[in-house]
Amino acid sequence: MAMKPMPRLLSSSSNRDNSRFCMPLFGQALLLLLLCFVYRAGSCTEQERESLLQFLSGLEGSISPSLGELIGLLRMNLSCNSLSGGLPLELVSSSSIVVLDVSFNYLTGGLSELPSSTPDRPLQVLNISSNLFTGNFPSTTWERMNNLVVLNASDNGFTGQMPTSFCASAPSFAVLELSYNQFSGRIPVGLSNCSKLTLLSASYNNLTETLPDELFDLTSLKHLCFLRNQLEGSIKGITKLKNLVTIDLEQNRLSGSIPNSIGQLKRLEKLHLAYNSMSGELPSTVGNCRNLKNMNLGGNNFSGDLGNVNFSTLRNLQSLDLMSNNFTGTVPESIYSCRNLSALQLSNNSFHGQLSKKIRNLKCLSFVSLVDISLTNITGSLQILQSCRNLTTLLTGYNFMHETMPEDDEIYGFENLRIFSLNDCSLSGKIPKWLSKLTNLEMLSLYNNQLNGAIPDWISSLNYLFRIDISNNSLSGEIPSALVEMPMLKSDNVPPKVFELPICTGYALQYRINSAFPKVLNLGINNFTGIIPNEIGQLKALQLLNLSSNRLSGEIPESTYKLTNLQVLDLSSNNLTGTIPDGLNKLHFLSAFNISNNDLEGPAPNAGQLSTFPSTSFDGNPRLCGPMLARHCGLAETPFVSTKQNSDKVVSSFVFMISFGAFFAVGVLYDQIVLSRFF
Ligand SMILES: *[C@@H]1O[C@H](CO)[C@@H](O)[C@H](O)[C@H]1NC(C)=O
Ligand SMILES: *[C@@H]1O[C@H](CO)[C@@H](O)[C@H](O)[C@H]1NC(C)=O
Ligand SMILES: *[C@@H]1O[C@H](CO)[C@@H](O)[C@H](O)[C@H]1NC(C)=O
Ligand SMILES: *[C@@H]1O[C@H](CO)[C@@H](O)[C@H](O)[C@H]1NC(C)=O
Ligand SMILES: *[C@@H]1O[C@H](CO)[C@@H](O)[C@H](O)[C@H]1NC(C)=O
Ligand SMILES: *[C@@H]1O[C@H](CO)[C@@H](O)[C@H](O)[C@H]1NC(C)=O
Ligand SMILES: *[C@@H]1O[C@H](CO)[C@@H](O)[C@H](O)[C@H]1NC(C)=O
Ligand SMILES: *[C@@H]1O[C@H](CO)[C@@H](O)[C@H](O)[C@H]1NC(C)=O
Ligand SMILES: *[C@@H]1O[C@H](CO)[C@@H](O)[C@H](O)[C@H]1NC(C)=O
Ligand SMILES: *[C@@H]1O[C@H](CO)[C@@H](O)[C@H](O)[C@H]1NC(C)=O
Repeated sequence: MAMKPMPRLLSSSSNRDNSRFCMPLFGQALLLLLLCFVYRAGSCTEQERESLLQFLSGLEGSISPSLGELIGLLRMNLSCNSLSGGLPLELVSSSSIVVLDVSFNYLTGGLSELPSSTPDRPLQVLNISSNLFTGNFPSTTWERMNNLVVLNASDNGFTGQMPTSFCASAPSFAVLELSYNQFSGRIPVGLSNCSKLTLLSASYNNLTETLPDELFDLTSLKHLCFLRNQLEGSIKGITKLKNLVTIDLEQNRLSGSIPNSIGQLKRLEKLHLAYNSMSGELPSTVGNCRNLKNMNLGGNNFSGDLGNVNFSTLRNLQSLDLMSNNFTGTVPESIYSCRNLSALQLSNNSFHGQLSKKIRNLKCLSFVSLVDISLTNITGSLQILQSCRNLTTLLTGYNFMHETMPEDDEIYGFENLRIFSLNDCSLSGKIPKWLSKLTNLEMLSLYNNQLNGAIPDWISSLNYLFRIDISNNSLSGEIPSALVEMPMLKSDNVPPKVFELPICTGYALQYRINSAFPKVLNLGINNFTGIIPNEIGQLKALQLLNLSSNRLSGEIPESTYKLTNLQVLDLSSNNLTGTIPDGLNKLHFLSAFNISNNDLEGPAPNAGQLSTFPSTSFDGNPRLCGPMLARHCGLAETPFVSTKQNSDKVVSSFVFMISFGAFFAVGVLYDQIVLSRFF
């Protein structure tokens, strides 16, 4: 019963969009119900026919309590409809229903209590997940549900203490799924009565305090998931749960170390402890967890020489994430005998020593992150890594300080690479020709280096490239026409692909899918000269355009108004002349705008999107005038939007509302764009 994590962090559409999860359509569910009814009941009693007809007449709306009277009904599946209203008690307490699934609807209200006179009920499986239920979980209801085995209440708005009363009444109770609610307080000790529990999941709630000792008595437990709560204290007792397959305690406030007894968890496949405050060494006994597939310990304060761990027994290991800890020593060679490893993240640790040639043994390797681990010898390192033919993501920034970018004929591989970062290495040299062979490249980060020379024309042959950050180098020459021909920046269909490990871009920001990254062209802080080509307007998909701090001259192209997806436009600190084109006011998604320190003239807009930006966005253009600028406009310099205002009052306030909305919505995205420079 492994759970699929919901891609909630990154999905822009609401989780109420049932079509994303639900296959059957409204009509099919109806048919299923009817078939189910016919098969089970054999023949309809008059009363059953009546109940069903009453139900059908109300299907678009609420669930009719009359369904509870269908005495032949064993399984009822109303999942994935548009049902609203409450969940009638008559269904939960029906004398025949064994399986009830009302997930993915719009049911509201609380679950009400059953009268204590209710006899024992046959219900075994109850799925009320992905609805809009609220309130505390009732307790006495469950005393009558002594056949209950599975309760799935995930993705609702339940509050109060985690429910456990069924533990006492239902001896076979095995699966409790409460993720994505607002349960709070400590994990109740009443759980200790759930001796058959195999899955306990309450991720994404507000649970606090320590993992109670009683939890460690649930020896049948296979899956323990409390991802993203506020749990504290140590995990020491967890190794009493010898049947554990999944430990997911990421994003809490746990402290202490991983106990030596971890090696006793012979069935463990997933050990997820990332983003806590844990410390101490990784015990060498972890090598005894021979079934481990995913070990994710990033974002803690683990330390010690990793060389003490022998990874070669972990034959099944597929992903290893040790990012942002304080591990020391050399990366142990034994890691390179984990032949199934497809994702390896070692970034931000205190390792020393060179990249081992043995990494070439990892034929499945697809994701490698080696950011800031003091590597040297860039040519040697890339020559080794290019033998990993399946590499799609390679993050190697903050290494190779002051070395030279490998020359054209030194690198020949990486044909599957999609994401490549080599930022913050103070590299000299040019943008090398071998990058042109990376025909699957989607994101290229070469910022904060000392590269010189021009942007090569072959850049436009990289058909998938949609994120180019080569800012803060010493690149020169004109903006080549090839750059305004980039196919992915002209259209907007990045083929979506989920990363093997999330790509961390800030302290709390993670990207799980490539298409969530904004489309970026950042040429800021270089020595580019010449004009901004008018063809820039072709890059309609662009979300961030940054040409700041160069030596660009000429006017801001009229065509800029076509970049309607732009959220960030920075043209500051160049030698641009002429007036601000009217069309820029049509960029309603702009949340950051800067044309300061140029030689622009004429009026700054006093209405519309651009007028919402502070004067610092316009400063340093001595010939620009406007109400909030040092120079006020003369009679001949009427600001360009004001002329229309009186005749068009309704329209302009409408535009204002849209821009205001966009500013708000996009403010968040802008944070992401800025933070995403960290990876
Ligand atoms: C109800 O139907 C949906 C869609 O067919 C299915 O995914 C789900 O497993 C069913 N529920 C139960 C409890 O069988
Ligand atoms: C609801 O939960 C039950 C039990 O966990 C499960 O069998 C069923 O597939 C779920 N329904 C859907 C639509 O996923
Ligand atoms: C709970 O139901 C959801 C559908 O709403 C399903 O995706 C999930 O797998 C179920 N969880 C368990 C443990 O059955
Ligand atoms: C990490 O652990 C070391 C001791 O190993 C300690 O000195 C340091 O303060 C800890 N850092 C944090 C951020 O907790
Ligand atoms: C690691 O374990 C493997 C397999 O059990 C063994 O052959 C090897 O000698 C061990 N390496 C070290 C350094 O102990
Ligand atoms: C890393 O470990 C060293 C030595 O144990 C310690 O001095 C240092 O404070 C640690 N760094 C962090 C960031 O905790
Ligand atoms: C390499 O990638 C290809 C295509 O994704 C896949 O078919 C193949 O199995 C991978 N090879 C290994 C050794 O993982
Ligand atoms: C760089 O690495 C390569 C490949 O491992 C090696 O042949 C070369 O000698 C190394 N160069 C230096 C200066 O260490
Ligand atoms: C530019 O890169 C250098 C290192 O090459 C760095 O020190 C500096 O802070 C960077 N400037 C900006 C504005 O990021
Ligand atoms: C544009 O890029 C430069 C160089 O990376 C940076 O300093 C500046 O903050 C960026 N502008 C915006 C608005 O993000």
